[in-house]
Amino acid sequence: MTSSPPDEQPSPAPVDPSTSVDQPPLSKRKQKKLAKQVDWTVLKRDKKHRVQAQKLEERNKRLEGMTEEERTEHRQKSLARIEERRQQRQAETERQKEALKTGQRIVIDLSYSEIQTQSELKSLKTQLNFCYGTNNHTPTPVSLHLTSFGGKLKEEMESIVGFQNWIIETHEQSFLDIYPHNEIVYLTSDSPNSLEVLDKNCVYVIGGMVDHNRLKGRTFEDSSKHNLRTASLPIRKYVDLSARDVLSVNHVFNLLVALLEHEGNWVKALHQTLPPRIIRSVKPEYVHMLGDADVSPPDPDTHTPDVTVTADGGEKMTKTD
Ligand SMILES: C[S@@+](CC[C@H](N)C(=O)[O-])C[C@H]1O[C@@H](n2cnc3c(N)ncnc32)[C@H](O)[C@@H]1O
Repeated sequence: MTSSPPDEQPSPAPVDPSTSVDQPPLSKRKQKKLAKQVDWTVLKRDKKHRVQAQKLEERNKRLEGMTEEERTEHRQKSLARIEERRQQRQAETERQKEALKTGQRIVIDLSYSEIQTQSELKSLKTQLNFCYGTNNHTPTPVSLHLTSFGGKLKEEMESIVGFQNWIIETHEQSFLDIYPHNEIVYLTSDSPNSLEVLDKNCVYVIGGMVDHNRLKGRTFEDSSKHNLRTASLPIRKYVDLSARDVLSVNHVFNLLVALLEHEGNWVKALHQTLPPRIIRSVKPEYVHMLGDADVSPPDPDTHTPDVTVTADGGEKMTKTD
């Protein structure tokens, strides 16, 4: 919904600064920054290889210590596990394909990506990756659409391995030019209207931005200009928070997906979605909504990068070992 010009130049391609002839020489600071990035990637890759090699060695040792019969049994169990996982993935893919056609429509409005800095765009890419991971594994996937998809963010997204196979719809146009206005509900924390239930006939739009409060009130302002319906998430109705209730894109997305999974139960959805340190407590009058259902966090064996996104869209590294 925005047409402001980009505020950053594209970041330099990772070339050897001493040998590049086509580009102006990089400043010392940029060279150092680039060197650090390369080191980080190499370190991560080396560590991954070391862990893989160690696992392989341990596995071979275990196999050596087994009798022929035990080895056969071990192999059969491994094959059964692989087959089970393959079937699970296939079922997930089928569910997602069906959801894309007939599921609850959720749009991530990327029109703000032009006024995002390069590092905000990288965070946004991570958050979109999280959203896709959630939709991939949930029993209740939604029909996920990225609108105003283009420019630098598109380049970032296309650098994700497998992005081309994502079961989503991407649109170059604005959501305003795709869906009937009376079906659109823009989610924004500044709305005076509270979203109580999801209406299958509505398209819920999430503002695709990482702004660290820099663009406060922006989506509400823009939605009002276009006379769109808006809604805020009823977070404080159900829980006390130790942070602001302006959530990151992936937390909002996950919350909507969890709301479908828990059939409209906001308490379970919030409990499952928000980091425990953010939820101070569930309001006493709604504790009963927690029930005894399993609201444990999602399976760690998911398609998630090794960073977590804090409620306001910041990022921190997740300890993976
Ligand atoms: C990091 S927030 C961006 C906040 C931004 N300053 C704005 O004007 O919306 C990303 C998006 O998540 C959604 N969102 C975050 N918290 C929300 C809440 N409490 N209620 C409704 N939507 C929310 C909104 O769509 C918002 O644009």
